Amino acid sequence: MTTPEVEALFAADTLAARVDEMAGEIARAMPGSFTLVGVLTGAFVFTADLLRALDREGAAPKVEFMRLASYGTGTTSAGEVQVLSGLSGRFQGEGVVIVDDIQDTGRTLMVARRILADLGAGPILTCALLDKPERREVDFQADLIGFTIPDVFVVGYGIDWAERFRHLPYIGKVAVG
Ligand code: IMP
Ligand code: MG
Repeated sequence: MTTPEVEALFAADTLAARVDEMAGEIARAMPGSFTLVGVLTGAFVFTADLLRALDREGAAPKVEFMRLASYGTGTTSAGEVQVLSGLSGRFQGEGVVIVDDIQDTGRTLMVARRILADLGAGPILTCALLDKPERREVDFQADLIGFTIPDVFVVGYGIDWAERFRHLPYIGKVAVG
């Protein structure tokens, strides 16, 4: 297997500063009690950092995770996202912030939002650390984005390439050479 090079795009301190800003925006948008719902696996680092940044903002969110598998390679729509593991279901009247690593085709966050709405959650805020607007295939836009990037494949800060590179403290671009 070719070993790809990783070219840094966002340093750890750049990510931390933006996560702090996003936590401030979330805390202002969600004054009541709310739950952070992280989308596994890619968003686990971001969710954990956001949770602690929210504490610094004086918020006290609960946290849950959901696992979704996206098969968004074709041109058909949301039916391609499969729910692999679920949630506690206790969301009636509960504010929820859905946290994903990357908004790509848009299917994952669109489906996650629908699932939480069906469970009675509200208000619902969707957020992604990275957004690749060029890749969008459905009419969906997350409420809060960390950074907008072009159509490049990224890894690190929880995000993988074939389960590798999640451990990197920064986000980089994969260049298969
Ligand atoms: P979508 O918006 O439903 O297409 O799903 C986005 C998901 O695709 C993200 O949560 C990631 O798991 C994955 N993904 C998209 N772009 C990348 C990338 O550049 N590196 C690693 N995973 C990616
Ligand atoms: Mg993902």
